[in-house]
Amino acid sequence: MSDLATVLYPEAEIRRRVAELGRDITVDYASRPPVLVSILKGGFVFLADLIREVDLALRVDFMSISSYGGGSDASGVVRILKDLDHDIGGEHVLVVEDIIDTGLTLSYLLSTLAARGAASVGVCTLLDKRARRIAPLDIGYRGFDCPDRFVVGYGLDYQERYRNLPFILALENHSGFMEDPAALERFLVAPA
Ligand code: IMP
Repeated sequence: MSDLATVLYPEAEIRRRVAELGRDITVDYASRPPVLVSILKGGFVFLADLIREVDLALRVDFMSISSYGGGSDASGVVRILKDLDHDIGGEHVLVVEDIIDTGLTLSYLLSTLAARGAASVGVCTLLDKRARRIAPLDIGYRGFDCPDRFVVGYGLDYQERYRNLPFILALENHSGFMEDPAALERFLVAPA
């Protein structure tokens, strides 16, 4: 696409894979309709497409969190900025993530949700950056094994930009983006 970024997952490939994940979840949760929990903001695009591929009476809820001391905090301890609207005691919870990197944030969150008495807590992630995993996680549903690259689009941002790209780009030139975070904005403009 350019020397700045390349398309890692085109729109059609994402659509196909999200449909497959939706079918798997429909089968697995047929006897126990789940509450899908999305972590704002990155996960909302994936969640919106995924729920329309799940043929069950599911519910959705949202959480917003921030890491104490920024992303380099190795404890994974997070501050809850917005909590779930409903009690999850006795519920089958499926956490829907855009990407799992070190896994520290998610592993802290899973223990918090389990401590609230959920009947089960599963994980569905669109992208799994396994190479960077620190906290071991049991991931029931994964869209793609993601290489150790910084990616944007389909909900994933770089300094809050590019969430609305319908495909996922891998940045080729990270330092170029630090200088100019808007460098890829021309890809948001529809061709004439
Ligand atoms: P971790 O698994 O605790 O390291 O953090 C995962 C979070 O880091 C994700 O939910 C994203 O918000 C962010 N993140 C990790 N890798 C990327 C990436 O390549 N692009 C955009 N955000 C990312």
